[in-house]
Amino acid sequence: MTSHIDNKTKRNLIEAAKKAQLNAYAKYSKFPVGAAVLTENGGIFQGCNVENSSYGLTICAERNAIFNAVVNGQKKILAVVVFTPTDKPSPPCGACRQVINEFGPDAEVISVCNSQEELADRSSVLLPKAFGPNNL
Ligand code: THU
Repeated sequence: MTSHIDNKTKRNLIEAAKKAQLNAYAKYSKFPVGAAVLTENGGIFQGCNVENSSYGLTICAERNAIFNAVVNGQKKILAVVVFTPTDKPSPPCGACRQVINEFGPDAEVISVCNSQEELADRSSVLLPKAFGPNNL
């Protein structure tokens, strides 16, 4: 994937995602996730996963980060970074891909972890032929 995000911005996003992960509420899965999104105005918004004793109510880190951006008036997402404290990077789940598509159909989606291994793809690659705002 050809990236349009400069190295400093990428480092800042990774740092923000790592910090957010520290606040994850992953009481049941013990799988904490942090996310950070870059918006059109250069802002960075964080999210972590927040689980619930009624398991299905859990919200993922990526969606929390995107909703945080929207709460703050930012509806165009250029990049999403996902951090998990694991050996392998973890890609966004299907529900998060759908929400990323809503606000950043061409967003760069980068997953990082404790090793140097990372995943990087455009949202349009992660969710091809997506249903989105233009279908309504
Ligand atoms: N999780 C995320 O936060 N993002 C994803 O894309 C995948 C899964 C969370 C949900 C749940 O709290 C835990 O990871 C295990 O599924």
